[in-house]
Parts: sequence; structure tokens; C-alpha cells
Amino acid sequence: MIVAVDGPVAAGKGTLARRLAAHFGFAYLDTGSLYRATARKVLRAGSDPHDVEAAVAAARSLTPEDLTDPALRDEAVGEASSVVAVVAEVREALLGYQRRFAAEPPENAPGAVLDGRDIGTVVCPDADVKFFVSADVEVRARRRFEELRDRGVSADYEAVLADLRRRDERDKGRAAAPLKPASDAHLLDSTNLDIEAAFRAAKDIVASRL
Ligand code: C5P
Repeated sequence: MIVAVDGPVAAGKGTLARRLAAHFGFAYLDTGSLYRATARKVLRAGSDPHDVEAAVAAARSLTPEDLTDPALRDEAVGEASSVVAVVAEVREALLGYQRRFAAEPPENAPGAVLDGRDIGTVVCPDADVKFFVSADVEVRARRRFEELRDRGVSADYEAVLADLRRRDERDKGRAAAPLKPASDAHLLDSTNLDIEAAFRAAKDIVASRL
């Protein structure tokens, strides 16, 4: 059983995907961490995320340890990750790992939940269940702002909003695997839906496919 969860930044797809995986005993892969780890490698090497060769080399040399670096959650890494994610060769380099994870989940789990931007459209077009989670950009910015504040990171709401808009544009506007719902995705709008309600709706849909 493969479950695809796609959507823009801070729509709540990570929380939803994690909860589905925990509920059904499926393996979970946050595919954004692959792009973040690629960006982090580029930045650590002192290179520019717009440097295509550096980005491709970083994506091709990722190791499992690179995915556990706490700095992956930094805002600068998030911003740079959406820059490297535009490069088709970077995406290509990360595809095999994602598809293997879905086809043969670790620890013989009976299924896998992958969250990202292109899981239902490109990585796993044959996924058994697809969700596309979205919410108004102001609501997502507010959530991200509060999350940063709770983590003790000083942030400015207007700056967070501008950052989200920029990343949405980049993710939707790129030629390689742009962010868009798969035609057979279930749309979950989390603007007025708390995570518990979104989880219940998604859980029932997955359960009906088991
Ligand atoms: O989901 P997260 O914000 O961690 O993803 C970081 C960046 O990686 C996104 O802004 C997006 O540009 C890119 N990404 C992608 N395809 C995926 C997952 C993430 O392009 N499947």
C-alpha cells in the first residue's frame, strides 16, 4: 500500500503523513528532507544553491546520515532547498531512493507514506491513495510563524508570508515536476480544518482501500 501526500509548504501534510503512517504501521518518508539535505550540503561546501553542478553533485552523494542533520529545518536551508529542487538532474538523482522506499519499505512495513510535492504525480503515479493538502497562504504563514516562535526562533510574520509565497511560486512554476494535485488525488483543504479532522477523513479513505 503506497500513500502519497502532497501539498505546499506548511499546509500540514507532514503531520498528516506521520499520523497516517503511525496509525497503519506504515513506513514514512519526508521527501523534502532529501532536497533539504542536498541544499545543506551545497551551503556547507560554501557553494551557491543556484550552482547547478554543485547541486547535482550534492544530490548524487547523499548518505543516510545527511538526512538526520537537525540543521535541515533551518529557514535558510528550506529556502535553498526550493532552489536546488528546480534542477531536473537533482530530482532525477533523488528519484530512485524514493521509489525503492515506496516499493520496499524499511523493516518490511506493510505500506509506505511519502510526503512531498510530486509524489502522486511523478514519484509514485500508481500510489494506492493520493492526498493533496492545501490551505490559504495567510493561514499557512500564521502556522509557520507560530511554530518558529514556539521553537524560540525570532521571526517576522510578513517575512514568513513573503518567504512562503516565494517558495510556492518556485514549486508551482518550475518545469520539472511542478507542485500540482494529481488528477486522482483527494483534496484536503486545511484552512478551516484542524489536523485531527483532516486525519480522520484521510484515515477513513486509506482504511477503505485496505
Ligand atoms: O517539504 P519541505 O518544505 O521540507 O521541502 C523543502 C523543499 O523541497 C520544497 O520547498 C520543495 O521545493 C522541495 N521538494 C520538492 N519535491 C518534493 C519534496 C520537496 O521539490 N517531493
